[in-house]
Amino acid sequence: MAKLELRNLNKTYTPRVVPLKELSLNVENGEFLTLLGPSGCGKSTTLRLIAGLEQPTRGEVRIGDRNVTHQPPGQRNIAMVFQSYALYPHMTVCENIASGLKLRRMASAEIQQRIGEVSQFLGLGELMQRKPGQLSGGQRQRVALARALVRRPDVFLLDEPLSNLDALLREQVRAELKQIFAAQPTPVVYVTHDQTEAMTLSTRVAVLNDGFLQQLDSPKRIYVRPANRFVAGFIGSPQMNLLHLKCEGGFAQLGRCKLPLPSQVTVPPEVIFGIRPEHVRLVRPGDQQVLQGRVVLVENLGMSDLLTVQVEGTQGTLLRALLPPDQSWSGKQISLALPPEALHWFDVQTGDRLPDALP
Ligand SMILES: Nc1ncnc2c1ncn2[C@@H]1O[C@H](COP(=O)(O)OP(=O)(O)OP(=O)(O)O)[C@@H](O)[C@H]1O
Ligand SMILES: [Mg+2]
Repeated sequence: MAKLELRNLNKTYTPRVVPLKELSLNVENGEFLTLLGPSGCGKSTTLRLIAGLEQPTRGEVRIGDRNVTHQPPGQRNIAMVFQSYALYPHMTVCENIASGLKLRRMASAEIQQRIGEVSQFLGLGELMQRKPGQLSGGQRQRVALARALVRRPDVFLLDEPLSNLDALLREQVRAELKQIFAAQPTPVVYVTHDQTEAMTLSTRVAVLNDGFLQQLDSPKRIYVRPANRFVAGFIGSPQMNLLHLKCEGGFAQLGRCKLPLPSQVTVPPEVIFGIRPEHVRLVRPGDQQVLQGRVVLVENLGMSDLLTVQVEGTQGTLLRALLPPDQSWSGKQISLALPPEALHWFDVQTGDRLPDALP
């Protein structure tokens, strides 16, 4: 089993369509790396370059110590699972799973043994003689996974494999995927634009935007310490509050509240300030950074209410806060605390995170 390495990968279709720019990353054995980003950011392009379905304009793809950049897909020993499952409709489940191995002219005893193991592992025993048309979406997805797993590839690639499933089934298959791939000693590259999938499944997440790698980090660090304004706004639901604030004397001014800037920063005239709605809370005695505001919108999310608050002393600046449900939020005047450890700061020009004292 071999690790996967991408070195300065670039892909240009036309001078105006450049879906991938200087992407470099390593995926170690047993690691589950997710490419996460909005539609069109270059996720599938990256997978196609790894699989050899397309050639990079520049850069290298390496598996272990092999440079596979110019090898055809068949020689790379990579298994890919697609959103559409790509099962052969005229073949049974068993034949579908075996198809990749037969192409490689594997002995039939070996094929039978591998299929036996995988079908048991994925609970497909009852379904082996059915055709794909006689299966549910979740079952089809499991057959597509089985077909990838029996190959025992050097690298697994999965392109939005859950997006055709309904929400409940997606949750169930997501948990299954986590178990299946925890048992694989190979690098896995998973593509999604669903941040819940990325956060729950991955050992590391690579956030892409517009062909550029924005941040490569553990799911936790991506949430706690987004590297720039894009990642801050893309990760987390409801979205992080991101506000342009004026600065003076080491403080940023939000309404009548003075927020201390991180001490490492040479005070800029303006900053982008961020705080997640779940970190804004009702005021307690002793709180320092407190602001007043009026609730202008209440969205009931079941476990909590998402409040939109108009901040007092501003020209209509809005801040969203996730607070315990209450019948009487609407129109209320409330005092909110912004805990210092929950504040994020970004450069107005570059969008980069400003240096702070957090580890
Ligand atoms: N064969 C092609 N010719 C020209 N442009 C292409 C081609 N394939 C993809 N693109 C463009 O490259 C960009 C990246 O496409 P890609 O399929 O990698 O996006 P994605 O991140 O997978 O998006 P989605 O989440 O919608 O699947 C898009 O702007 C797309 O239109
Ligand atoms: Mg895609």
